[in-house]
Amino acid sequence: MAPGLEEQQNHQGGHQNLQQSLAIYKASIFRHQEIGHKSLLQSDALYQYILETSVYPGEPEPMKELRELTANHPWNIMTTSADEGQFLSMLLKLINAKNTMEIGVYTGYSLLATALALPDDGKILAMDINRENYELGLPVIEKAGVAHKIDFREGPALPVLDQLIQDGKYHGTFDFIFVDADKDNYLNYHKRTIELVKVGGLIGYDNTLWNGSVAAPPDAPLRKYVRFYLDYVLEFNKAIAADPRVEICQLPVGDGITLCRRIS
Ligand SMILES: C[S@@+](CC[C@H](N)C(=O)[O-])C[C@H]1O[C@@H](n2cnc3c(N)ncnc32)[C@H](O)[C@@H]1O
Repeated sequence: MAPGLEEQQNHQGGHQNLQQSLAIYKASIFRHQEIGHKSLLQSDALYQYILETSVYPGEPEPMKELRELTANHPWNIMTTSADEGQFLSMLLKLINAKNTMEIGVYTGYSLLATALALPDDGKILAMDINRENYELGLPVIEKAGVAHKIDFREGPALPVLDQLIQDGKYHGTFDFIFVDADKDNYLNYHKRTIELVKVGGLIGYDNTLWNGSVAAPPDAPLRKYVRFYLDYVLEFNKAIAADPRVEICQLPVGDGITLCRRIS
């Protein structure tokens, strides 16, 4: 082989590999822009790396079972991602949460993460308009031995919150409230949750980056339901950032979660 040829071939091979990698990278970015992807990271490979290295190995067996069960459900796009479940679990333990609320249960992945993270006498008031989906996950929650912490209420959450406020004795009693339901009601939820969470307690609002659409150009092609709720999410994000009763932290975990710590 003439001197330099091998190097040239290697160089060409390297170039081909580079082109291939670039194509895979571009494809992964494209997949990532699909609606409903459970991460805002701009690389599937990186997200997969996080899941496989740092999330799945420590995921409690019941959560794995519930995640796999939910994956077969037609509305699985709604489930909380495993990395967000892990985040919630860590957060709840850090703040020693005992009395919590969840608005938007679906099959119960975030509910189970919460129930496992709370002490044995911990409580979760859980609300969803759909009991059927909750009951799909319930056998897994029961098998995990944490169902006694859950008070599930079927129906719209707003009237339940109004009832709690009217009752008087629930003011400032919740350590943590997770809101993961109808986005057009987030401001209505906030008007009520701010009274129910204790000073120093946390409210977590899910999906506040709304598939990344919050920063999309006005003419970006968006799925109908993303477009429909976008203005509500934008309005909510602005309002929450200007609310003097809370300090906030916007995290790009899952579809974006805004943590609000009540300060007054
Ligand atoms: C994104 S899913 C919740 C996902 C859940 N946190 C999980 O970990 O799988 C949203 C849920 O909110 C529920 N929902 C919608 N509108 C509601 C309302 N007004 N009150 C209570 N729940 C509602 C839906 O039935 C749906 O199950």
